[in-house]
Amino acid sequence: MASYAAHPLRDPEDIVPDVVRESRTLPWREAAKESDALRPMLMEQFRHEDFRGKLVLDVGTGEGRLAFVAAHAGARVVGVDLDRTKLMHARAYAGIRDFRNVEFVLGDVDKTPYHEFARDPIGAVVSNLCMSPEIVWHASRALRPGGAFVFCCHHGDHWKETRRGSQWAFYEDVMTDLLQDNRFEVTFMGVDTTVARFDELREVELFLRDSIVRRWVEDGRWEELSDSFARGEKQLTLSYLVVKARKLAAAYETT
Ligand SMILES: C[S@@+](CC[C@H](N)C(=O)[O-])C[C@H]1O[C@@H](n2cnc3c(N)ncnc32)[C@H](O)[C@@H]1O
Repeated sequence: MASYAAHPLRDPEDIVPDVVRESRTLPWREAAKESDALRPMLMEQFRHEDFRGKLVLDVGTGEGRLAFVAAHAGARVVGVDLDRTKLMHARAYAGIRDFRNVEFVLGDVDKTPYHEFARDPIGAVVSNLCMSPEIVWHASRALRPGGAFVFCCHHGDHWKETRRGSQWAFYEDVMTDLLQDNRFEVTFMGVDTTVARFDELREVELFLRDSIVRRWVEDGRWEELSDSFARGEKQLTLSYLVVKARKLAAAYETT
C-alpha cells in the first residue's frame, strides 16, 4: 500500500528545525472528547490568516466544518468533496445557519484542476484530513504568488501501534519536500500528538468508529494493535501535521 510517511528512521529535527511540537498523554475517555474536533493548532493558523473577501477552496470538505470556519472569518468559500451525502448535509447546515457565502461542489480534488470549481481566482486552499501529492500539485497551480495553503493531515506517527499506521500520513521532511517541489514556502509546520492510554484492548473499540475497527480487522492492523497491547503498550497515537505555506512567485530563467 502506498504510504507517504516514508522516513520513519530519519530524525525530523535534523530536517525541519523549526517544527512546533505539542504532545499530551491522556486516558482514552479524555482523548475521546477531543478526537473528532478540528485541531486547535490548525485553528490558530486560521486565526492568523486574513480570509476576508477572499475566495477559499476547502478540498475534501466533507460536511463542511472547515468551510464554515473560513466563511465565519469572512471568506467566500467553495467546499469540494466526492461524497454526495456529506455534501447534502453541508448544504443543509449552510441553509439552516443562513451561510450565504458558502457553496458545495461535487468533484475529485485529486484529478480536477481547481479553477473548474470556482469562477473567480482562488485566494487560499484549505483542507482538514484530506491530503495527497495530487492535492499539493493542484493547489500550487490554483494559487497566485502569496496565496495561502493551510491544512491538517495525518502525521506519519498516526496510529503507529498498528504498524502500518495511516495510509494518508506524511512526515515533516516528506511534506516539506513535496511543498518545495511545488513552489511553496512553508511558513508554519507543527505536529500535534495525543497518546490515548487504555487498560484493555476492547476499550479501543469504544474509542474508534466501528468502520475503522472493521477495516483494521480486515487488513491486519487490529492484530498488530492487539500484539502491541499484549506487549504492555496499551496506547494509540493520534498525530497530526499542521501546515501553512505560501505560493512563491514563478522562477524565471535568467540565461
Ligand atoms: C476525513 S474526511 C474530512 C472531512 C472534512 N474536511 C472535515 O474535517 O470534517 C475526508 C474527506 O475527504 C473526501 N475526499 C477524499 N478523497 C477525495 C477526493 N479525491 N476528492 C474529493 N474529496 C475527497 C472524503 O469524501 C471525505 O469527506
